[in-house]
Amino acid sequence: MGYIKSALLEETGYVVLDMYGKEIDPKEWLDIEYVDWKSSGDTRFAPLASAKGEIECNGFWNHQPPRTDKDGVWIPSQTEKAPTLTERALEPGSNVGRCRIIELQPNTYADALYNLHQDDNNRLNPDGTGWVVRSFFNLTDDKDSFFVLRDNRTDPNGETRIALPAGAQLVIDTQRLWHAAYHPGDAPRYCLITSWESGPELDAYMEKYNGVNTVESVPLDQETIDAGQAEQERRIAARAAALAARGQREVLAMSEA
Ligand SMILES: [Fe+2]
Repeated sequence: MGYIKSALLEETGYVVLDMYGKEIDPKEWLDIEYVDWKSSGDTRFAPLASAKGEIECNGFWNHQPPRTDKDGVWIPSQTEKAPTLTERALEPGSNVGRCRIIELQPNTYADALYNLHQDDNNRLNPDGTGWVVRSFFNLTDDKDSFFVLRDNRTDPNGETRIALPAGAQLVIDTQRLWHAAYHPGDAPRYCLITSWESGPELDAYMEKYNGVNTVESVPLDQETIDAGQAEQERRIAARAAALAARGQREVLAMSEA
């Protein structure tokens, strides 16, 4: 039967929507509770919706009974401090799974390349229902930051770099595309990340905000690209060597974050 997927997302795996044009009080992401949660890079997360309405970020499949990343339970102590963000996650009317704010500490382009990963979005997702994708709503005005998207972890050809100013809105099939954020500077980046179920509601939402599935990449000089690529290769090899010394091999698993 197969999953219900979005035709607009199918071509490249990402869709960029119109920028969100209104101001949001930073208290909505600064005054809520964060937990240490290891994603790619140095991160913490503040959940708005979780498996059972607790302030924790574990995959829904790691709870009892195990279930897929849908029907997230809203956490009142968090959502009451972040009403606009909650409203934005609910706006399409798609089923919402995990919904949280990520705090990412500054990093380098090479870090981003090493952090590239795919998300485990559809574990236990029943065949014939909507494929789970993720929305990214950038909160801080990170003018020099960008999202790195690749079809292949180690192949720089066809890399797409999407700018992350405040109000940038992306929908990405993060189980399909390798992704990570490059975030230079000296202050953390905050972004609302929501698991949405594909279907007619999400399609209508992306159309309403003029979603496009091809954008011009943020320019990056060849020297930085080459140096980042070499450093990614070096770190992957170093990790493989460290594992080999313990008689192990790297198993590439999708991120459960
Ligand atoms: Fe991810």
